[in-house]
Amino acid sequence: MTDTTAFIIFGASGDLTTRKLVPALFSLHRKGRLPSGFRLIGMARSPIDPAAFRASLRAAAAPADAAAWTSFEARLDYLRGDPTDPQSLARLEAKLSGAETGDGAAHRLYYLATPPHVYADVVQRLGAAGMVDRRRGWRRVIIEKPFGSDLASAQELNRLLHRVLDEEQIYRIDHYLGKETVQNVLVFRFANSIFEPLWNRNYIDHVQITVAETVGVEHRGPFYDRVGVVRDMFQNHLLQVLAMAAMEPPASFDAEALRNERIKVLRAVRPFEPGDIAGRTLRAQYDGYRQEAGVAPDSTTPTYAALRLSIDNWRWQGVPFFLRSGKRLAAKATSIVIQFKSVPHVMFPLPPGQGIQPNSLAICIQPDEGMHLQFQVKEPGTPAGMRPVDMDFHYANDFGPGAIPEAYERLLLDAFMGDPSLYTRNDSIELAWALVDPILRAWEQPSAPPLLHYAPGTWGPAESGAWLAADGRAWSSDCVRHEP
Ligand code: BG6
Repeated sequence: MTDTTAFIIFGASGDLTTRKLVPALFSLHRKGRLPSGFRLIGMARSPIDPAAFRASLRAAAAPADAAAWTSFEARLDYLRGDPTDPQSLARLEAKLSGAETGDGAAHRLYYLATPPHVYADVVQRLGAAGMVDRRRGWRRVIIEKPFGSDLASAQELNRLLHRVLDEEQIYRIDHYLGKETVQNVLVFRFANSIFEPLWNRNYIDHVQITVAETVGVEHRGPFYDRVGVVRDMFQNHLLQVLAMAAMEPPASFDAEALRNERIKVLRAVRPFEPGDIAGRTLRAQYDGYRQEAGVAPDSTTPTYAALRLSIDNWRWQGVPFFLRSGKRLAAKATSIVIQFKSVPHVMFPLPPGQGIQPNSLAICIQPDEGMHLQFQVKEPGTPAGMRPVDMDFHYANDFGPGAIPEAYERLLLDAFMGDPSLYTRNDSIELAWALVDPILRAWEQPSAPPLLHYAPGTWGPAESGAWLAADGRAWSSDCVRHEP
């Protein structure tokens, strides 16, 4: 008996299919990791036939291994249609069940890459058409971000999904959790005995999480102008990275154990109150943003934000977490920087006013993936001169270039295998919205702190340095690749 697995993309003509999904699936195909009897059916409203669909995917993938592509391509199909239209779904069902004739199980993974406002409708209609019925095999649904636009809409979407699907059938994607270097935070912390004893308020002064991008809003002006940086990056990616960095060790590598620990972190984050928004947040917009296509000429949408978070539990009491992200910044760099405390007593005869730079550990998530541990060494030939040096690990050196798979590769594989560890559970997504909602609301008030501005190609508004300096800290540039 041979099982089959159908992967159905709704909204297949969008660039997610060409840029992320198909390259990830092709890579899995080449590694022999696609499930048995795999086939892909793209559905969209574009009036093209399956041959044209395959040709456009081949053109976009420009595969170096033509033979592998030919065998992969044979599994790709296309059906013109609209997943909110029952007749389109009936045609899809006929196509799917027409190929599910063997006596093995016939599994299906539906991928919602449609505009978010139809997510609930599509799932309701799949339910009504009996297409998530699990008698012949599993039925799972992957849902792209954004999942809601605030707490109320996310709760409503969860409620509607749960009318048709069990939580275990729902895979809410956050591609940051699929990044190799984000998963490595767990291995680094819990497969080594030397770091975890230091990973707490006794040794750590503060933590910085940065997601800096050089790109602007590109062709997504209308979408971005409605959401802004907090909904686009913080509610999902930055808070999930924070959870990985701050969570307690789970007792096992089981999906629910991992997800429970991540969620406990979000539960312990001190809520933002209207009175502390001015001190704990900073928002800014890059110059020229209002001239981008699809952006309102008087837009106040922030493209940069910095937040100061506190985690109210034993491990992290008194250790601030500074999160920042922005577009059109000076470099692409995503990092978690653990800034350790200063030595308790300086016995060296340093010049007046000179202290010892505390140790730091930078986890460089991208693009120069690796880790840098910074510590002091004695400067040769001086009595007690010292200088910070780095102990570096770069993935490219140890594993070779190209060893890091794309996030979507791992995430799709996990969905085929039924492992939701790296997907966001309903309570997690709602907690994340509950954390950012008060910020978004406060920023809309007339009394809100002003929207700052910054020149493209800089590190954000000039005020961000002073904001952190007021806390006695400075932004780290540890993972920024310094081009020779
Ligand atoms: C997406 C955001 O979720 O993540 C984009 O919508 C952002 O605005 C992107 O550019 C960043 O992802 P990565 O993997 O390039 O860091």
